[in-house]
Amino acid sequence: MTMKTISIINLKGGVAKTVSTINIAYTLVAIHGKRVLIIDNDKQGNTSKFFGLYDPSSYGLSELLTDKKMDVNNVIQQTNYDGLDIITANMNLLRTNKEILMDVSRPQQTRLRKKLEKVKDQYDYVIIDNAPDINMTVINALVASDDVLVPIKIDQFSFDGLEQIIEQIEDVSEFNSDIRFAGCFITMYQRSSVNQQGAELLEQQGYPMFATRVRKTVKVDEMTFSRKPLLDYAKRSTACVDYVALVKEYLEL
Ligand SMILES: Nc1ncnc2c1ncn2[C@@H]1O[C@H](COP(=O)(O)OP(=O)(O)OP(=O)(O)O)[C@@H](O)[C@H]1O
Ligand SMILES: [Mg+2]
Repeated sequence: MTMKTISIINLKGGVAKTVSTINIAYTLVAIHGKRVLIIDNDKQGNTSKFFGLYDPSSYGLSELLTDKKMDVNNVIQQTNYDGLDIITANMNLLRTNKEILMDVSRPQQTRLRKKLEKVKDQYDYVIIDNAPDINMTVINALVASDDVLVPIKIDQFSFDGLEQIIEQIEDVSEFNSDIRFAGCFITMYQRSSVNQQGAELLEQQGYPMFATRVRKTVKVDEMTFSRKPLLDYAKRSTACVDYVALVKEYLEL
């Protein structure tokens, strides 16, 4: 199959972008036997930390995007899971954003897309965990992506930023006409009336939505400490069952 690249994005912080990236990626590996590359595109480096690979001095996404000669294989690291690799991020990403902006000597938006071409036979999926922001590295992620998935936590501000993401997707279609807004999915779902009403409201907005809602469970917080994806840490937890269903739904799109 041809490699597919997925961006997990929301301009809001704390909506489960990182947790979703990790669990969607590992579900593709463990249940579907896919070869997956995660890209940490957040200077916080949460995904890199999760896999025990956060290192301020190691090569990662920053070097890939700013060093023209850097080979993508030199920034890919293996995780503890067979079939799951990662390109890490750290605080250098802050500088990287400025550097890309200032370096007009070569195209700014298509750098990641071009670098990833080299691994198109090595992976089935690339999953990018984006920062809650729109900056040059996030634009690079969108330009490199076939699909965009938007995790949403229901609260008063759930809808904020959605329009901007859709606008951004339209903007990058100049460089990447195949990009698709695959859909939003609800995270940290609880069976409370506010959650139910919020979910209904969201469904009425006309955005593409996944039917699967990822339920809230303490197992997710525990998972971040155990540094194991849900399928490895708490296979029977609600959120694990939901991520498996979400991936199935995605694959059937
Ligand atoms: N299904 C869930 N049930 C309970 N807690 C959850 C669930 N999903 C995520 N969380 C918790 O919500 C918090 C935020 O998750 P996460 O770090 O994935 O969000 P994020 O969108 O990546 O945040 P940021 O914008 O800072 O990168 C974490 O503490 C995580 O453990
Ligand atoms: Mg995150």
